[in-house]
Amino acid sequence: MTDSANPIREIGVALLGLGNVGAGVIKLLEENAAAIEARLGARLNVRAIAVRAFDKRRRVEVDASLLTTDIEGTLARPDVDIVCELIGGTTDARTAVMTAIAHGRHVVTANKALLAEHGREVFAAAEAAGVDVYYEAAVCGGVPIIRVLREGLASDRVEHIHGIVNGTSNYILSTMTATGRGFADVLAEAQALGYAEADPTLDVGGGDAAHKLAVLVGLCFGTAVDVHAISTEGIDTVEPIDFRSAERFGYVVKGLVIARDHGHAIEARVHPTLVPKNWLLADVPGAKNALYVHSYALGASMYYGAGAGMLPTAMAVVSDMIEISRNMLARAAGARAMARPFAQGQRPLLPLDDIRSRYYLRLAVVDEAGVLGRIMTILGSHGISIAQVVQDESAAADGAATTHIFVITHEAREGNLRSALREIDGLPVVQRPTVVLRIAGAGNNGNAGKQ
Ligand code: HSE
Repeated sequence: MTDSANPIREIGVALLGLGNVGAGVIKLLEENAAAIEARLGARLNVRAIAVRAFDKRRRVEVDASLLTTDIEGTLARPDVDIVCELIGGTTDARTAVMTAIAHGRHVVTANKALLAEHGREVFAAAEAAGVDVYYEAAVCGGVPIIRVLREGLASDRVEHIHGIVNGTSNYILSTMTATGRGFADVLAEAQALGYAEADPTLDVGGGDAAHKLAVLVGLCFGTAVDVHAISTEGIDTVEPIDFRSAERFGYVVKGLVIARDHGHAIEARVHPTLVPKNWLLADVPGAKNALYVHSYALGASMYYGAGAGMLPTAMAVVSDMIEISRNMLARAAGARAMARPFAQGQRPLLPLDDIRSRYYLRLAVVDEAGVLGRIMTILGSHGISIAQVVQDESAAADGAATTHIFVITHEAREGNLRSALREIDGLPVVQRPTVVLRIAGAGNNGNAGKQ
């Protein structure tokens, strides 16, 4: 309740971009206006929406007088307190965010690419200008994982994380697992259903997940990493035969981001992974996202939900607006009020050769006496210990004389495995480069990633 003597405070908001997420933000601000006002004790008022073109079809009706193509003018408006960047990409969005900060505006962004590539610059400028930059929607869409890492675990120390942070890839892999169909076939269907973009490269190639991982590493370990140096493998190379054999060994193929703090360096990688069937991550279906966090005091915790979509993502964006508004009302706004990502500067990434993992190998070999023995001898000479071996006659490779050998190793150093495989793949009896997939979880390394 307000009266004319105490008019409710209005907080001015400008949206940059009115695509799916922008439309969701408008919808949520309208539909939940009363609840938001009651919770905040103030009103979020959209003052301008900057768009590229006026005549585009939108998923929401807006007052035409709010629309403008003048981004500069919008950022300079004195009645705008919070700028919500929903342009995407790292060029125009970077200029807009840096200009907004220079004008003393608080910023909400869903842009993981911008934060992964220019996060230090953005947060340094925000700190100098005394403004907030919030980005809950940048990782796992509507799942409030940024708040969990920034606030919920503020007194804890994250040791390692395993996550499914790209819904498109998870949808494709889940469908391949359930149906036995190939990647290209399932991708085409996902595109027809609107689960995958016309150009799916960023999603299925792992780039989107690497951006999100860089943001998570900043929060979990207080350090920036070079996102372009994160080892990133897409899901497009996994074949139906690997799904079947993973299943036989007790695993499900998932696209994971994995990060671990080694002190002097950060381990961070993105790749298709064999996940033990008894892990919660193995059961994450369709386009859903999930993050498993292992921290010193809490131990294991899991966060799960919609990683994309109009309303889930908009929900995260509007919650950020509310939090910034609360900071403003409490006169606590400014980057110092936030847990500062990247606070400890930049630490190097652990070279991929130095990571330790268990491995799944699929070797296409000539089916004759002594072949298996030679391969095992080479693996042994590089310190690779074998956990399981299966030769599957029904899985003949290129012809009757060629067969597949499937190997599960104990935990090993990746550099040793690569050296062994260079020798193995050079043998005349080996028909094609060996397929290698990493296995998540405990080897002889305690409870790494166990859930
Ligand atoms: N394209 C992303 C995904 C959502 O498939 O998860 C936005 O980051």
